[in-house]
Amino acid sequence: MRLTSFAYMISLANLARVEAKPFPQNDGLNLPTHTVASFNQTGSWFENLAVRPNGDLLVTMMLPDPTLYHIKSPGSKGAQLIPLYKFPSATGLVGITEFGNDKFAVNMHNFSAFVSPVADTGAVWEISFANTHKDDFTAREVTVIKGAGLLNGMTSFTGKNSKSRECKAETSLIVADSYAGVLRRVNLSTGADEILLDAPELKPTTESQFGVNGVHVLGNYVYWTNTALRALYRISINSDGYPSKNAAVELLLSMPEISIVDDFTFDRKGNIWAAASSNNTVLVIYKNGGSKEYSTYKSAAGEVTSLALGGVTATAFGKGGDSNTLFASTSGATAVPVNGTVTEPAKIAAVDLSSVL
Ligand SMILES: *[C@@H]1O[C@H](CO)[C@@H](O)[C@H](O)[C@H]1NC(C)=O
Ligand SMILES: *[C@@H]1O[C@H](CO)[C@@H](O)[C@H](O)[C@H]1NC(C)=O
Ligand SMILES: *[C@@H]1O[C@H](CO)[C@@H](O)[C@H](O)[C@H]1NC(C)=O
Ligand SMILES: *[C@@H]1O[C@H](CO)[C@@H](O)[C@H](O)[C@H]1NC(C)=O
Ligand SMILES: *[C@@H]1O[C@H](CO)[C@@H](O)[C@H](O)[C@H]1NC(C)=O
Repeated sequence: MRLTSFAYMISLANLARVEAKPFPQNDGLNLPTHTVASFNQTGSWFENLAVRPNGDLLVTMMLPDPTLYHIKSPGSKGAQLIPLYKFPSATGLVGITEFGNDKFAVNMHNFSAFVSPVADTGAVWEISFANTHKDDFTAREVTVIKGAGLLNGMTSFTGKNSKSRECKAETSLIVADSYAGVLRRVNLSTGADEILLDAPELKPTTESQFGVNGVHVLGNYVYWTNTALRALYRISINSDGYPSKNAAVELLLSMPEISIVDDFTFDRKGNIWAAASSNNTVLVIYKNGGSKEYSTYKSAAGEVTSLALGGVTATAFGKGGDSNTLFASTSGATAVPVNGTVTEPAKIAAVDLSSVL
């Protein structure tokens, strides 16, 4: 496995570190964490996760192979990783999102080396469970997106599509393309894709090839993290899910001390829980924490010298009895070892939020 591009990105990012106020590590929440289930070899990488309506987790593997894993009853002792489906036309999986009741979209690429996709192999598939209490599912390719850079975080959007004749509620996908620095929109019935938003705030930089990373919709906004720019942004969208007329991108929060801001999720109060992967930390970004929405943050769990959330990549709240649990996928610190040398197999960790929600 070649990690050169990643290591290069990080060394350049560190060289370019801007003067920043000290990271609020000391007054972090230090919420308790535990391991739910681990893969069985190092050099592995879980990139993202989604939660079924019955509370089971679906986890995408980027390394070593393109397997979607299933974890049943993730809140129970002895939860296990079960391989659910190995995709036939990719070498690694990236993003996942639910877009309908127990229907999920997964994106993937053929990679020639670590985070180096082969051109024109960025694909989106659908995995649909027939019955929420059972595990049988169907898989189908939705589309291969020509010209995609690196497909990454995804979310779905349901709105009244005024372009459709019946003007009925319809769901589309919003896909972050980290290398092209755009948000793409995919029509789930036809597979047609288009660029939803192309803006400087989505782009990578000469220091990091990862621009927009996580993308999620809350209320009338689409929110995203940009890894290269180390920041959180949003833009207002209309009922079709397209940027509102004359809307401007808002910079909500700069996090210059966080080398790699990855994917995130919202809690029921609208706070954001974000993966800071090379800092082995989950951050909380408060909705009402300062002079404006999403302008303050702190470390919530994990720490830079610990494997507890080693190389954390994405977060998702559990369902049912697990609704106060934040599940997190990890890469086992594979790209940026803890203390320079320590890695572990990819895993799913749980952060207990019952004291703060
Ligand atoms: C690791 O897990 C995979 C899939 O779950 C399995 O195919 C493989 O045999 C396991 N390897 C070892 C060494 O246990
Ligand atoms: C990925 O590579 C395999 C093997 O070469 C090929 O069969 C498959 O079509 C490729 N995937 C895409 C989306 O082009
Ligand atoms: C998907 O494309 C079809 C055919 O053009 C169109 O009728 C439908 O409204 C589109 N759906 C969305 C969500 O854009
Ligand atoms: C975040 O991680 C980077 C290494 O990836 C490290 O240089 C930096 O000191 C860490 N920041 C904090 C606040 O721990
Ligand atoms: C990293 O180094 C610190 C300081 O020596 C130590 O406390 C910590 O346990 C180390 N972490 C790992 C995962 O080995």
